[in-house]
Amino acid sequence: MARDPVRVLVTGAAGQIGYALVPMIARGVMLGPDQPVILHMLDIPPAAEALNGVKMELVDAAFPLLKGVVATTDVVEACTGVNIAVMVGGFPRKEGMERKDVMTKNVSIYKSQASALEKHAAANCKVLVVANPANTNALILKEFAPSIPEKNISCLTRLDHNRALGQISERLSVQVSDYPDANHATVTTPAGDKPARELVADDEWWGLHHDCSATGAAIIKARKLSSALSAASSACDHIRDWGTWVSMGVYSDGSYNVPAGLIYSFPVTCKNGEWSIVQGLPIDEFSRKKMDATAEELAEEKALAYSCLA
Ligand code: NAD
Ligand code: LMR
Repeated sequence: MARDPVRVLVTGAAGQIGYALVPMIARGVMLGPDQPVILHMLDIPPAAEALNGVKMELVDAAFPLLKGVVATTDVVEACTGVNIAVMVGGFPRKEGMERKDVMTKNVSIYKSQASALEKHAAANCKVLVVANPANTNALILKEFAPSIPEKNISCLTRLDHNRALGQISERLSVQVSDYPDANHATVTTPAGDKPARELVADDEWWGLHHDCSATGAAIIKARKLSSALSAASSACDHIRDWGTWVSMGVYSDGSYNVPAGLIYSFPVTCKNGEWSIVQGLPIDEFSRKKMDATAEELAEEKALAYSCLA
């Protein structure tokens, strides 16, 4: 029996991630090859013409799974009845900027769109925030949409997870499919399975490649635009794998001594559409320092976000 279509909202759909993401969704990359979809695309009035162009291309591509397209600048129309909301709308950083430099513009978007989602999305809508600063935008969305279960709100850290996999496999000349996780996984080698951390013993390399903000900046320097195809692909992975062990930015309950009340990237497993934080992983001194620095930065961002909204 044919499945009912799932309504997927993409905000900022006329932007560069949106342009890479919507065809992936329409082709079944996010929800699978048997799941029909109706795309809801939101952008702001200055981008309305470009948004309509994206809609025209979606129609021209004749995706068999695509059962409808709503392209609008009206937030209520965009949010009505959506089952999944991928929040990309906002402003990317430019060369030389920190991610939190886009804070003033972006957090207020997440405050106002939170209530539209809360009022008009389908019950149990799952939300993925992509726009930066993604953790803090997700936190603001959570706080201003109190009736959306906190388990349903997450942010994209899967790109950073995928980057770690990609960069370690380049360094070790192995396939990404040979291991599932950077710090805790084993890599299949001719000499047997070995921990990735042991195979790349170079602390300086790990330090460099742990800093995904620097990787983002390197892409901006090279493309003069921030990452888009990898972000779109990782957003599909994030929603699709709301089912296996992956990295997701979720509301901290204090696990691993990460302060509660932040949206923080944890290793999670998902069952029946609900994530739970994987507990009990050993954290070495190197990772602890990086984790504490990240928590400190996110606490600062949280305070800054509130000062922007005041
Ligand atoms: P872009 O400028 O190409 O597109 C953003 C789109 O959002 C534009 O079309 C803009 O008109 C639209 N927009 C602005 N305000 C809006 C609003 N209030 N409602 C709806 N749409 C709105 O930018 P991009 O390269 O697609 O990046 C989008 C965001 O994603 C940026 O904040 C970027 O930093 C972030 N990003 C995050 C990750 C991640 O891993 N979390 C990765 C890459 C990029
Ligand atoms: C990325 O990591 O590529 C994005 O978060 C964009 C950025 O500003 O770094």
